[in-house]
Amino acid sequence: MRVGVIGCGSIGKVHIKNLKAVGAEVVAACDIDEAELKYVKSNFGVEHVYKDYRDLVARSDLDAVVVATPNYLHSRMTIDALREGKHVLCEKPPALTAREVKEMYEASRRYGRSLLIGLTLRFRADSRALRRYVEEVGIGEPYYARASLLRRSGIPGYGSWFTRKAEAGSGPLYDIGVHALDITLWLMNDFGVREAWASTYAKFGPRGRGLGTWGKPVPGGPFEVEDLAAAMFRMESGATVLLEVSWAGHIAADHFRVIVLGDRGGLEFPGAKVYGEEGVLVDKQLKYAEEDPYLVEARHFKEVVEKGVEPVTKQEEMVMLQAALEAALRSAAEGRVVRISEVL
Ligand SMILES: NC(=O)c1ccc[n+]([C@@H]2O[C@H](COP(=O)([O-])OP(=O)(O)OC[C@H]3O[C@@H](n4cnc5c(N)ncnc54)[C@H](O)[C@@H]3O)[C@@H](O)[C@H]2O)c1
Repeated sequence: MRVGVIGCGSIGKVHIKNLKAVGAEVVAACDIDEAELKYVKSNFGVEHVYKDYRDLVARSDLDAVVVATPNYLHSRMTIDALREGKHVLCEKPPALTAREVKEMYEASRRYGRSLLIGLTLRFRADSRALRRYVEEVGIGEPYYARASLLRRSGIPGYGSWFTRKAEAGSGPLYDIGVHALDITLWLMNDFGVREAWASTYAKFGPRGRGLGTWGKPVPGGPFEVEDLAAAMFRMESGATVLLEVSWAGHIAADHFRVIVLGDRGGLEFPGAKVYGEEGVLVDKQLKYAEEDPYLVEARHFKEVVEKGVEPVTKQEEMVMLQAALEAALRSAAEGRVVRISEVL
């Protein structure tokens, strides 16, 4: 499989390394930053480098393209690559709006090429063990879930696209909330979100506090997004999902925990624990062997491209995931419950 990577920043380089590790040839790369192109050329031996992604997607010798650029570029670059007949692995969040995600999948269908979204948590061994448990054993009817992904001091790329509203779409809600909500709905095996109620806050970013180490800060750049978001989603099934995410907050340490409660059992992630009551209270620790999720993701993408395997991230899921986040953002801005049908 011959691949081109668009966006050679922090995650673009991770993709190049892992694609090579699973036996793909990374023959082309694109970035607007000359230094990144130099880096991937000399460190990964990428032969052809471009500053304009349209030149990369036009190459007739590529099977696939990875889109690892700032969020606002995802839909446009993905659609252009699909139109040029390339399979696409696009980073999360899929886009800025649910409508853009729909357009991406319309292009995937029209041009007969696959689209995988880089929701890396799905490739962790513990999440896969839990998902297998849900499919093979089940937890009954999932009626409540809570996803909590809180950082103490982790604002990425202060002043860069990460903290510009037009380029990121939102702060932690889109950046890490997309991972937390996706894994929760995936483990519930239910993406039927009906409505959202949410609040967002910016208590650290505007004061230049709470900074993390990820991304490329731009001195003097703006902070236009939230640094904490809390959302409640009501599902069509009647279930409730709570999501809380932050880039910064006065807590002891970074915290990530998802619980999914069904009427016959409960799940906990990370760590793949299952709880139930079988006459007595039962705790189960599912077995799994740790593996680098980015490597597993690269292997899956290779199978999607070479063997026509169906991408683990499905159209209906990705449209609803983006719609749920978009509805939450609008709910916070307008101070009201927003129905998913309003953003679809
Ligand atoms: N799945 C994950 O675990 C994960 C982790 C980190 C980031 N991401 C996602 O990956 C994307 C990139 O994040 P990052 O942390 O690598 O950001 P980054 O800022 O480190 O890298 C982005 C790169 O895109 C380049 N770029 C910007 N505009 C471009 C254009 N028009 N054409 C070509 N290149 C362009 C920039 O110069 C930069 O090198 C984001 O959407 C982010 O949400 C996913």
